[in-house]
Amino acid sequence: MAKIRDDLPAYDTQVINAIRQEEAGTIQGARLIQAGELVAFPTETVYGLGADGLNAEAVKKIFEAKGRPADNPLIEHIAKKSDVRQLWRRIPKQAQSLMDTFWPGPLTLIAPKSDRVPDEVTAGLDTVAVRMPQNRTARALIAKAGVPIAAPSANRSGRPSPTTAQHVMDDLCGRIPLILDGGPCKYGVESTVLSLVGEPTILRPGAITREMLAALIGEVRVAESILRPMKDGETAASPGMKYQHYSPNAEVVAVIGSPVNTAKRIGALYRAAEAEGKTVEIAATEQTKPFYKGMRHVVLGDRNEPETLCANLFSALREMDERADLILAEGIPAEDEGLAYMNRLLRAAGFHVIDADQPE
Ligand code: TXA
Ligand code: MG
Repeated sequence: MAKIRDDLPAYDTQVINAIRQEEAGTIQGARLIQAGELVAFPTETVYGLGADGLNAEAVKKIFEAKGRPADNPLIEHIAKKSDVRQLWRRIPKQAQSLMDTFWPGPLTLIAPKSDRVPDEVTAGLDTVAVRMPQNRTARALIAKAGVPIAAPSANRSGRPSPTTAQHVMDDLCGRIPLILDGGPCKYGVESTVLSLVGEPTILRPGAITREMLAALIGEVRVAESILRPMKDGETAASPGMKYQHYSPNAEVVAVIGSPVNTAKRIGALYRAAEAEGKTVEIAATEQTKPFYKGMRHVVLGDRNEPETLCANLFSALREMDERADLILAEGIPAEDEGLAYMNRLLRAAGFHVIDADQPE
């Protein structure tokens, strides 16, 4: 872990409502980006913490403000598709149809980088991740800044990604000059990351699923470490995967299995932990909430619509973490958008999973 610097200049962090004041907010944001400063901005996935993506000194400030390990590369955000040309050495053959279909949107593509991209952005890799966000404010900010904006999620390293401006404030108040508030993020999990170096491979699952990508470009592999911890000595296809990530202070346990078995097991674990004096919270679903009468729980969404669970997972983790010693979270099948949900949940749980279909 990089050390969080305590000697950062203390900013009087300003929040501008970018829905009511999009023009004023993005003008001010663009000025700060051009001056080498950081701006937090909304995207359709999670909030980003942006800097001029061609300015190495500005990009270093991102790592300092977040306390992010310097070996974890950033995504360059662009406002129009043709901007990718200045960032990639060449356009991989599958890229054009992917960009035409899914940009703007929650898909990040990785290809060999051009010389214009500073090593600070790619953590020394010879590839760079690029995405064109759908969110209007994000695109207006990038267009006005006139440069690609390098941005990771706008959380302190190790915290769940922020899906509201308040989450950004909670993590980065005093460490950055400006937050553009665009309301809650639509998807709530970060973009799908697809490497186009060699066989197309999903390094991080998101709202654009393997099935959607495969329908367009044929076979798409999924990196093995998406649903399991890295093994000792294994090199990460994506450096971000080796960090635990999304980790609340409370202990998190994921419980998988049929809905009824899951709910029953969670109920038993809840009562046992409470008897030990622990404060417990349950991340529940519409289908199982009747089982949790009298127990503290938050309904994330519908098990049959994993995107609803994705949309609320990070904000629910932050909320439950305020009160709980233990968070018991329901798992779902890791299919379609369920893969993105389980990828984030298993990391939050440090891969602590209980299978409720197995006897205790
Ligand atoms: O939705 C998103 O992607 C959000 C918003 C703000 O756009 N951004 C985001 O960035 O989630 P970040 O930095 O939190 O995650 C970027 C992920 C990391 O896991 C990183 O390791 C991986 O992408 N990545 C970036 N560049 C890479 C590269 N050249 N090769 C492999 N992995 C890369
Ligand atoms: Mg992140």
